[in-house]
Amino acid sequence: MDRLAIDGGPALDGAVRVSGAKNATLPILAASLLSQSPLTVHNVPQLRDVNTTIALLRRMGVGVEFHPDGRVEVDPTTLENYFAPYELVKTMRASVLVLGPLLGRYGRADVSLPGGCAIGARPVDLHVAGLQALGARVKIADGYISATAKRLHGAHLVLDKVTVTGTENLMMAAVLAEGETVIDNAAQEPEVVDLAAFLNSMGARVTGAGTGQIVIQGVEALAGDDYAVQPDRIEAGTFLVAGAITRGRVRVEHVVPEHLEAVLQKLREAGAGIDTGTDWVALDMQGRRPDAVDVSTAPYPGFPTDMQAQFMALNCIADGVGTVTENVFENRFMHVPELQRMGADIRLEGHTAVVRGTEQLRAAPVMATDLRASAGLVLAGLVAAGETVVDRIYHLDRGYQRIEEKLARLGARIRRLT
Ligand code: UD1
Repeated sequence: MDRLAIDGGPALDGAVRVSGAKNATLPILAASLLSQSPLTVHNVPQLRDVNTTIALLRRMGVGVEFHPDGRVEVDPTTLENYFAPYELVKTMRASVLVLGPLLGRYGRADVSLPGGCAIGARPVDLHVAGLQALGARVKIADGYISATAKRLHGAHLVLDKVTVTGTENLMMAAVLAEGETVIDNAAQEPEVVDLAAFLNSMGARVTGAGTGQIVIQGVEALAGDDYAVQPDRIEAGTFLVAGAITRGRVRVEHVVPEHLEAVLQKLREAGAGIDTGTDWVALDMQGRRPDAVDVSTAPYPGFPTDMQAQFMALNCIADGVGTVTENVFENRFMHVPELQRMGADIRLEGHTAVVRGTEQLRAAPVMATDLRASAGLVLAGLVAAGETVVDRIYHLDRGYQRIEEKLARLGARIRRLT
C-alpha cells in the first residue's frame, strides 16, 4: 500500500495548475449514459474515483477510452445491462449516480446500495423518494435498489435536505421524462451547474441550476458532443491552504475564483494576502504565521465540508483558538486523533472541534481515513518537524491527481513510498 513521506518545513512558493473537478466528472460521466451517440469529455482528472466510474460504465457494456491528455471518449450505444454491482459501488458511493440516467433512458436500473461509509451513514433515501415521485417503481432487496419505469413523468420535488448527488440523480432522471420537473431545495454547488450545462449541451432543457430551484422540461432524446469539465475548487482550495500553512506563496491556475469565495474569505481572515484574476488566485502569507479562524460547514455557497479537514490542520499551527463545526456529515472528524498524534491541541464538543494553535507540530506516522481527512494530514505534515509518513493514501488518490508531484514542484519535500 502506498504511503507519503513528508519532511516538514519549507515555505511553498510557486504556481500549480488545477485539474478538472472530480465531483463534476463523476456525474458527467454517468450522464453520458443518456446520450444516443458517442461523445467526448475533456479535462478529466486521473483519479481512482474516475477509474471506478469508467470501470462501472464498461461493466455495462459502454465503450470508454481514457486518454492521457484528459480526454474520455464514451460510446453509450453499446450498453448491454443496467447493473451496478456491489464490488464497485462499495469502493465509491458516487456510483449511485448511474441510477437516474439508467432509469431515465432505459427504464431500468439495478444498483447496489452504497452501504456504510467512513464519514457517517450517508443514506440515499432522498434519491429513491424523488425517483418514485417521478413514477419509478423501486424495490430494495438483498442490498440492491431495483428500479423500473415505462417513461418517467415530471413532478414537483421538494428535497427534505440539500443533497448534491441526490439533486444530480434526479436532474438526470428528469431530462428525458415526460413534462416538467421542478426540484426545490436543490443543491447549488458549482458541480450541479456543470452537470446541467453538460446536459443542456446534449439538448436537455434545464434552467435554474446554481439556485435552490431547478426546472427541467423533458425532451425526447439527447445526443452528446464535446464538453470540458470545470476546474476542481477543492483541489485549488487545498493548495491555497498548503501555501498558508507553510507561510508561503502559492498561485493556483485554471480555477474559477468565484467558486472559492467562502474559502478565500477564511484565508483572508487567517491573514493571507489574496489576489484574483479571471482564472487564477494568488495567496501570499509574507512569511507570517496564520491567525486561527472559525469555520462552519454548510451547503454551497457556504463553507464546503470538503475543505474542513484542511482548515483544521491550518488552525493546529495558527495563532489563537479556532473552532471548526461540521454540519453536513455526522462523523467527519477522523483526522482529529491523527492530528493529535502530531501534537495538535484539539478538543471535541459534539460536532465542533475547538483547536488551540501550537507553534510546532511534530512528525508522526499517521493514517488516512477518508479523502479529505488525508489532505488535512498531508498539510499538517508540510509544517511538522521531522518526517511524517501518511499511510493508506489510496484515499488521497481517489480525489487528488498526483498530489505529491504538484506539492514537490511548489518546494515541498515529499515523496511516495510504494
Ligand atoms: C457530495 C460530494 C462530497 C461532498 C458532499 C457535501 C460528490 C461525488 N460528492 O456527496 O464530496 O462532501 O456532496 O458537499 O459530489 N443525505 C440524506 N439522504 C440522501 C442523501 C443525502 O440524508 O438521500 C444526507 C447525507 O447523509 C449528508 C447530507 O445529506 O448528511 C449531504 O449529503 P450529500 O450532499 O448527498 O453528499 P453527497 O452527494 O454524497
